Amino acid sequence: MPLLIFRLVVLALFGSAVVAGLSLNVTIDDTFGDPVTGTQFVYSPADNWQSSSNCSECASTFAMAMVYDRTWTLSTHPGNATISFYGSAVYVYCIVSDHAAMAFLIDDKVDGYYIQTSSPNSTVDYNYPVYTSGDLPMGQHELTIMNGVVNFSSLAILDYIVYT
Ligand SMILES: *[C@@H]1O[C@H](CO)[C@@H](O)[C@H](O)[C@H]1NC(C)=O
Ligand SMILES: *[C@@H]1O[C@H](CO)[C@@H](O)[C@H](O)[C@H]1NC(C)=O
Ligand SMILES: *[C@@H]1O[C@H](CO)[C@@H](O)[C@H](O)[C@H]1NC(C)=O
Ligand SMILES: *[C@@H]1O[C@H](CO)[C@@H](O)[C@H](O)[C@H]1NC(C)=O
Ligand SMILES: *[C@@H]1O[C@H](CO)[C@@H](O)[C@H](O)[C@H]1NC(C)=O
Repeated sequence: MPLLIFRLVVLALFGSAVVAGLSLNVTIDDTFGDPVTGTQFVYSPADNWQSSSNCSECASTFAMAMVYDRTWTLSTHPGNATISFYGSAVYVYCIVSDHAAMAFLIDDKVDGYYIQTSSPNSTVDYNYPVYTSGDLPMGQHELTIMNGVVNFSSLAILDYIVYT
């Protein structure tokens, strides 16, 4: 199709999407942060979280091709990963293998848990949705991923989140 018509079609499609109020998804990497706003995760206490980018043997730990942006941030101790975003829903994706106990807080209120007490097949699941918020009022929200909410050691491996 001629370029001009192609452009008009694209413009029409994009324009109608905006008019219809369709929302877009933004993916926030655990390490690189929000590509739109530049907002980064805050890990606290920092010593309880380990970044794959600081770990020379990490490349052999997981299948890098399965990991978003080839990075993750791991915690085996109680700690929080917090970030704010402007939107109406949020989805959290982890690498899940064994013993995990996480709570998810929206605007400082617990909204969900992910608890896994064993991994019978010793498998590793990538891109695993550990938490999906319901519809939130469109606006600024704070997500806190809280690791270690029960008294067995919990392995939290944050890969990325998506917000709408
Ligand atoms: C956004 O991502 C979620 C989770 O992957 C998906 O269910 C939803 O359909 C996506 N929405 C858009 C507008 O792409
Ligand atoms: C990674 O290493 C750099 C340089 O040693 C250090 O400044 C940074 O705090 C480390 N990051 C993490 C998450 O450990
Ligand atoms: C994690 O967040 C919860 C809820 O805001 C707070 O009570 C707790 O002290 C935080 N823990 C750390 C290590 O920041
Ligand atoms: C474990 O592996 C078996 C055989 O592949 C499968 O049927 C089963 O669903 C797996 N269990 C879990 C919890 O992944
Ligand atoms: C902690 O673990 C011990 C041993 O498994 C158990 O007896 C106890 O009830 C647990 N405490 C809490 C608060 O879950």
